[in-house]
Amino acid sequence: MLKEAVQEVRVFAPATVANVACGYDVLGFAIDSPGDEIVVRHHDKPGLHITSITGDDGKLPKAADQNTAGVAALDLLRHLGMTDRGVEMEIHKKMPFGSGLGSSAASAVAGAYAVNKLIGEPLTKQQLLPFAMAGEASADGAWHADNVAPCLLGGIVFIRSNEELDVAQLPAPDNLWAAVVHPDIEILTKVAREILPKDIPVTNATQQIGNLGGLLCGIIQSDYGLISRSIHDVIAEPRRQKLIPDFYKAKRAAMSAGALGFSISGAGPSVFALCEGEEIARKVGDAVSKVFSAVPLENQIHVSKINPLGVHVVEEKSSNP
Ligand code: HSE
Repeated sequence: MLKEAVQEVRVFAPATVANVACGYDVLGFAIDSPGDEIVVRHHDKPGLHITSITGDDGKLPKAADQNTAGVAALDLLRHLGMTDRGVEMEIHKKMPFGSGLGSSAASAVAGAYAVNKLIGEPLTKQQLLPFAMAGEASADGAWHADNVAPCLLGGIVFIRSNEELDVAQLPAPDNLWAAVVHPDIEILTKVAREILPKDIPVTNATQQIGNLGGLLCGIIQSDYGLISRSIHDVIAEPRRQKLIPDFYKAKRAAMSAGALGFSISGAGPSVFALCEGEEIARKVGDAVSKVFSAVPLENQIHVSKINPLGVHVVEEKSSNP
């Protein structure tokens, strides 16, 4: 049977929690929502045409070579020698910028994934990683796969090398839940990276490596006690917490409500807790939300299991339905 020609495809790319405390730039996981959506269809004129962007308050450029999703898609088309293709793209932003939820990574992943689907899926998800990375790097100027890789592949992803894009997916424990709370302030990743030291003492490196190893083992062995003992960040959190009002109050509230551990999601301001079970995750989300509300800061709670899917198609129209 002939493969149906895809005419239009709508994809969803989920939010992600990067670093996961002790895995600065090398560990991240996907959650179920929020996430960005992108629709692509064929276009008569060659080139990538971004025809509509919603949910961005007019902040994002429509020029494809200046837009995160556009850069990722163009990079893919260039690699495949298909720059003469005509593609129309709609971008629907469903999460705020500078939120610590992997917003630019989600757009980059969705852009590359959607176009790959439209042109008959020549590459696997894994093979799309460098193109999505190029898209995200165009937004924050840094090269780290801890948002892009879990957004693309789903689950919990460990990055052995960002340069080589050598990544490994870990099996998420069955009852591992995340409570993510986003307070309504914006932190630019660039700024949050600049406040980190260029060098760290060996004692800090040793502690961080111990915790990262413990967290990976805990995840693989579904050992919630080991996970809990390991979620500590001695490098980024102590410096970045000052960008988030009442961070330590929120941390105390999360731990008292039963969290396994609590830290900053990516570059912040979102914070996250890992929890054993949905009930605890909901309690923890509410406790952290109350702290931010008292600041007062508007905030949104996202409670989710680890999302195993990553980016996926939500609707597809083909010429041979
Ligand atoms: N690992 C990155 C950082 C994630 O912490 O700067 C940014 O989303």
